[in-house]
Amino acid sequence: MLSRRDVLKFAGVAAVALPIATIACTGDESGTTGVLLRSRARLPEPFAIPLPMPPVLKPTRQDTATDYYEIAQRPGKVEILPGLETEIWGYNGIFPGPTIQARSGRRVVVRHRNELPVPTVVHLHGGKTPPADDGYPVDLLLPVGGWTAEHGGHTVSGQLSDGERQYVYPLDQPAATLWYHDHRMDFTGPQVYRGLAGFLLIHDDEEDALPLPRGNRDIPLMLCDRAFAEDGSLLYPSVDPTLRRTPGVSENFMQGVMGDVILVNGAPWPVLEVTNTRYRFRLLNASNARRYRLALDPARRDGPPFIQVGSDVGLLDRPVGHQQIEIAPAERFDVVVDFSSYPMGTRVTMTNQLGSGATGSVMRFHVAREARDDSTVPSRLIESEKLRQSAAVATRTFRFARGAHGPSGRPGTVWTINDQPFDSERVDAQPRLGTAEVWRLTTNVPHPVHLHLAHFQVLSRGQMGPGPYDGGWKDTIDMRGGETAEIIARFTGFRGRYVFHCHNLEHEDMAMMGNLEVV
Ligand code: C2O
Ligand code: CU
Repeated sequence: MLSRRDVLKFAGVAAVALPIATIACTGDESGTTGVLLRSRARLPEPFAIPLPMPPVLKPTRQDTATDYYEIAQRPGKVEILPGLETEIWGYNGIFPGPTIQARSGRRVVVRHRNELPVPTVVHLHGGKTPPADDGYPVDLLLPVGGWTAEHGGHTVSGQLSDGERQYVYPLDQPAATLWYHDHRMDFTGPQVYRGLAGFLLIHDDEEDALPLPRGNRDIPLMLCDRAFAEDGSLLYPSVDPTLRRTPGVSENFMQGVMGDVILVNGAPWPVLEVTNTRYRFRLLNASNARRYRLALDPARRDGPPFIQVGSDVGLLDRPVGHQQIEIAPAERFDVVVDFSSYPMGTRVTMTNQLGSGATGSVMRFHVAREARDDSTVPSRLIESEKLRQSAAVATRTFRFARGAHGPSGRPGTVWTINDQPFDSERVDAQPRLGTAEVWRLTTNVPHPVHLHLAHFQVLSRGQMGPGPYDGGWKDTIDMRGGETAEIIARFTGFRGRYVFHCHNLEHEDMAMMGNLEVV
């Protein structure tokens, strides 16, 4: 376990790296907190590279109740920028990792083998997973070649696995867009940035019965931003680029790391040829720190361009139309876009209204062919339960802020929850299995707040009800700076210890994480 002494040591490292000057530089009006890292490589013309589709992983074996998979985590060489080679760390050596297609109620067992030079941890984000398989940050999967801890006492104190281990996912939960990604204690930011992220899509009968676009018109889109060195390698401001010893990023990037290249499914500003029909896009923001406000240009004249049908962890009961989609790190929006109202040949750009220059665009759709369309978006999708405030048995308050009273005694040295940096030995909430609780969250600067295990609904933002992007069951809430929001979370599934944290990965690595123990 991470001892108090290690927390002090960790905080001490961070303190050295943080000049007072950057503390004043908090989030801007775009609702993102982060600092732009500029590429030194030649960047491609946008909308020239075809949108890649992550391959669907084949099970190695199946029985009546379970699909078995194997994944090797290893370095891979890929061409992200034309003509340059980028080394990534990927699930099966690719970025994004392979997509796992799962069925609600059917178990998925993934055997991971760590062929990387550092420990890893796999978390299925949005999954209702037993604690031992949830990817608790110190439950390290050590490299096959062996590992000597050089950093902190905690590297030898979680549930360690040597080289290989399996993760068991019951997936007793409805159809939804989940993703799996690295969750190593103190090093999640750089390890996800290097490529350790992939989709896991859960399907169920209710979803199958809906006439939504399907097959090759149901497309997962993983959005993230990166920066590249001259030779095409990924740029990231790690204090220790070997990721072996000192965690954290250099002083200027405590707010979060934003790249100047927008990737969709691993390709910079790609283009997708579409037919003049409806498409279902499963949008995932897999960026470390960047928020997006997505729009289509030209916009449709005859209705909202995005019809949202699903949120983080399931379908909505009714579709919701949006002119734009605001999406914070780790959030998912399942949307239908209808290209039938665009004249044949139209090039429709998905823009990012929170970006500027190159980061102001994301990808392009080229309406290139005619096709028949049997899909529709029905006005009722599924029956889903609405949780009322009165159902809660407890209310807890969590304040997400800079460490004003960090353990080192210096102001602003780490990111904290209720003034405390993460300590794996301290339990911050003990909800009872099967109950619902109201969590009142407050922030200084923007923080996307994520709970493991528990799915929740947003009850209010300040004096207002839920915002336009808060609909449905969520696992991450996009908190703006200086805001208070109330969520109602239901703690079902399993007893045991899980984390909740800010999903700005630099904040998470800088200790903005707590323990919830379901009892
Ligand atoms: Cu997507 Cu605790 O993480
Ligand atoms: Cu944060």
